[in-house]
Amino acid sequence: MEKSIMLMVGALLLASAASAQPAYTPDGKMLVPRDYRSWMFLTSGYDMSYVEGPAATNHSFGNVFVDRPSYEVFAKTGIWPDKTVFVLESRAGSADDPLVKRGEFQAGPPMSLETHVKDAAKGGWAFYGFGRDGGPAAMIPKTAACYSCHQDHAQTDTTFTQYYPTLARK
Ligand code: HEC
Repeated sequence: MEKSIMLMVGALLLASAASAQPAYTPDGKMLVPRDYRSWMFLTSGYDMSYVEGPAATNHSFGNVFVDRPSYEVFAKTGIWPDKTVFVLESRAGSADDPLVKRGEFQAGPPMSLETHVKDAAKGGWAFYGFGRDGGPAAMIPKTAACYSCHQDHAQTDTTFTQYYPTLARK
C-alpha cells in the first residue's frame, strides 16, 4: 500500500517535471507552453516600454511566469537550471465595467506572448516570440536586441529578477 502511494507520487513528480520541459517541432521551432498560467507568477509590469515616446493611451500589463520545477531549483540554489522556461504575456487593460471608477483590470486573450528559455541544446538562453495564432515560433536570432539588453541589464543570468519582487536581490 505504502509502496504504491510512493510510486504514484513519483510518477506525478515525473509528470510535472516533464510538463515544464520546452517542446519543439522537428525543425526546432518552440511550441507555446500550454499550461503556463498555472506556473509560478512573478510579476505584472504595467505599460512598460524600452523606447522613448509618449505615454501609452491603451494600457497593458505584462505578466511573467516561470515553470515551477525551475523556480524550486532557483529558490534553493540561485541558479536557473537547464530547461528553465519564462513566459511573458501581454494583456490589455480595461475599465469597461460601471463598477470600476478608477484604474484598470486585465481583459481579453493575450495580445502577445514571448518566451525566454535556457536550453544547452540551443546554445544557452534563447528568445521566442509567438503570434496571436499561437503557432510554433522560430528562435529569435541571437543578434537581436533582446539578447543584448537582457545580457547588459538583467540582474541574474540574463533574467530581470530585479523587477520580480519575490526574487529581487539588493
Ligand atoms: C531594452 C531592454 C530590453 C529589450 C530590448 C528586451 N527586453 Fe525583455 N525584458 C526587459 C525587462 C526590463 C524585463 C522585465 C519585465 C518586467 O519587469 O515585467 C524583461 C523581461 C522579459 C521576459 C521575462 C523573463 C526574463 O528574462 O526576465 C521575457 C520572456 C522577455 N523579456 C522577452 C524579450 C524578447 C523576446 C525581446 C526581444 C524581442 C526582449 N525581451 C527585449 C528588458 C528588455
